[in-house]
Amino acid sequence: MKKKYRIVKDNAISLRAKAKAVDFPLSQKDKDFAFDLLDFLVKTKEEKFCQKNKVREGVGLAAPQLGKNLRIIAINYEIEDKKIRYLLINPKIIEYSLQKCYLKGGEGCLSVDKEHPGYVYRHHKIIVQAYNLLTEQQETIIASGFDAVVLQHEIDHLDGVLFYDHIDIINPYKKIDNAVEI
Ligand code: NI
Repeated sequence: MKKKYRIVKDNAISLRAKAKAVDFPLSQKDKDFAFDLLDFLVKTKEEKFCQKNKVREGVGLAAPQLGKNLRIIAINYEIEDKKIRYLLINPKIIEYSLQKCYLKGGEGCLSVDKEHPGYVYRHHKIIVQAYNLLTEQQETIIASGFDAVVLQHEIDHLDGVLFYDHIDIINPYKKIDNAVEI
């Protein structure tokens, strides 16, 4: 990571914009930025990096959060011995379940400092198509539960949507039928 990046916070207009599709063949500039995006996310695991850059540890990061209006997302976490790491270009949800799910503790975002308590309902299962820069392949990703939540949260960023937009204003902990708690 040669450049210095800063997380764009949620009062910025750019965070509410629709990001542009990345052109193929990929330019070196877009590739470099994508790897910087993943690098930044991976580094949030280091306490020193977080203190220096005033960030928290994250599981996902979208290009608009580093000030680039492009459809690129990075995902990095370990759950139940499973390592999830993606660097996705132009990700698209092509199918989803009608069944919903939600994180019991609600969602957070590196761009949102204010607490927004409440349930964020998402599709429990999704199928995403994207070019994964880590494998250099066009991939079809089938995800459910937490994995599906993270993907949907990051893809939302590409359309200028933040997690709290999904929280019911009147009743933030509204229960909906047949939703899976995670
Ligand atoms: Ni976010």
